[in-house]
Amino acid sequence: MGHPIYDVLIVGSGAAGLSTALYLPDHLNIAVIAKDNLKEGATRYAQGGIAAVLDEADSIDRHVADTLDAGAGLCHPETVRFTSERSRAAIDRLVKLGVEFDRTEDDQFHLTQEGGHSHRRIIHSADRTGKAVSNSLVDQACSAKNIHLFDHFTAVDLIKEPNRDSGKLRCSGAYVLNQETSNVELLQAKFVVIATGGASKVYLYTSNPDSSSGDGIAMAWRAGCRVGNLEFNQFHPTCLYHPQAKTFLVTEALRGEGAHLKLPNGERFMQRFDERLELAPRDIVARAIDHEMKRLGADCLYLDISHKPAEMIEQHFPTVKAECLKYGIDITKQPIPIVPAAHYTCGGIVTDHQGKTDLENLYAVGECAFTGLHGANRMASNSLLECLVFAQSAAEDIVQRIDKVKPPKLAVSWDASQVTDSDEAVVISHNWDELRRFMWDYVGIVRTKKRLSRAERRVKLLQREITEYYSHFKVTNDLLELRNLATVAQLIIWSAQSRKESRGLHFTSDYPERSDIARDTILVPRNFAGQQVIVN
Ligand code: FAD
Ligand code: SIN
Repeated sequence: MGHPIYDVLIVGSGAAGLSTALYLPDHLNIAVIAKDNLKEGATRYAQGGIAAVLDEADSIDRHVADTLDAGAGLCHPETVRFTSERSRAAIDRLVKLGVEFDRTEDDQFHLTQEGGHSHRRIIHSADRTGKAVSNSLVDQACSAKNIHLFDHFTAVDLIKEPNRDSGKLRCSGAYVLNQETSNVELLQAKFVVIATGGASKVYLYTSNPDSSSGDGIAMAWRAGCRVGNLEFNQFHPTCLYHPQAKTFLVTEALRGEGAHLKLPNGERFMQRFDERLELAPRDIVARAIDHEMKRLGADCLYLDISHKPAEMIEQHFPTVKAECLKYGIDITKQPIPIVPAAHYTCGGIVTDHQGKTDLENLYAVGECAFTGLHGANRMASNSLLECLVFAQSAAEDIVQRIDKVKPPKLAVSWDASQVTDSDEAVVISHNWDELRRFMWDYVGIVRTKKRLSRAERRVKLLQREITEYYSHFKVTNDLLELRNLATVAQLIIWSAQSRKESRGLHFTSDYPERSDIARDTILVPRNFAGQQVIVN
């Protein structure tokens, strides 16, 4: 790759990263890197759709009110409004880029419903919305001459340099592992945008692809940025349970179209937990399922849509139908076995409405960012919307500032002279399994002080081992992911320990009540020996 200097380096090729690239004007020289192929990432797997105020009978006020309610008192109202007001424009833009959404017979957008929404407002492409969005974004980016795409390049760490004008440090690029050559290269730019997605891979069972290892959150933390509300890990209530299936999401839109949650004996149970039944917000439904599974000692519960017309099911849910059929389950005739699994990282790198972080010239957009939109529990389908809205505002901010920013100085090259090839890759896979298992067992849907301390002790041991390994051996993708997962696990545990109440997705038996005062958990990096917790 040499040592080119770009205007903008974007780390991540999901909805957030590629939307940012495509919102930037074509006279800017942009590099986008992805650690897998360009289409791999959470975006591709999105099923339900994108929340947007498109129906005349709906309103921004209602979308705002529903989001605030789902967020359990912790959303930043001005961010929620900022996002909802831009939802129609974000969808118009996707349509222009070629995304085909489902339409009704009279050629209106077909809108479905999901938990927490008081109105039908989820625009979708059957149950494969993410694929439709990702395909269009990648196609457009591939045909843009100013966008240089690098797949199988993993960002290792951010580069900083002093900015003489402001007297502060500024971000000036990243060290990047070229997976083909195994060399770490220098990639510099006037601006860097982190769009690396979430960190749900920190849990043993997750709906997310392997790329969701929290790399951007960990890199930003190491570079001195604050992170917020990382204790709010969303567990999706309904992932397919089958011994041979890698976790597969069964979209909430099934419940929007009338599917019922059932116990193994066929009884419905949501009426005992929330008057909104199956369409209560996700934290409530996931906790209800967890409670019933523990009460009954059941391995799974069931989601049943077989009472609805087979034709409707086939039209709206072809992906879910086909995946379930692989395991002998015909969803038009029988209930689907389901369990909750880690799904979404509500917290992340602290940003403002333009995606700006604490480090000059560094932006964060998408699931890796903490904008204040989701509060203590993200409402379904608000995530892709956040990616699109903040990609645009970050791009606009970069355009406004770029002429005043000088190109960075050439940074020192990566020094690999003191490290050798690892002869014990098993250490990485073992630590990886251990980390994800204790996070699932001790930092899951229901937490206690004791479980969190257990997890903290273990993560500290792992971090020592990983640091030693990192300083002796050449970096690989697996080692980088493990290092980042351990950092994010530590940040999640610290955040969970500092919240002395139960709210939204964070439930602890030691403090089961919700406090009267709603506060964010903001972690401020000082040095590697400790962290300071500030509650706003
Ligand atoms: P991603 O799409 O995850 O992209 C991350 C990118 O960063 C990838 O290109 C990856 O390769 C790259 N990357 C990561 N680390 C590095 C590194 N170190 N170096 C280089 N590149 C790196 N949300 C909704 O709103 N509606 C839905 O219907 C919906 N359904 C979902 C279904 C599933 C199964 C899942 C998993 C999520 C769903 N979500 C949904 C959530 C939503 O899909 C994600 O929050 C959103 O797609 C995140 O987009 P992103 O661009 O931030 O990250
Ligand atoms: C789903 O389709 O159930 C996922 C929607 C989301 O995570 O927003």
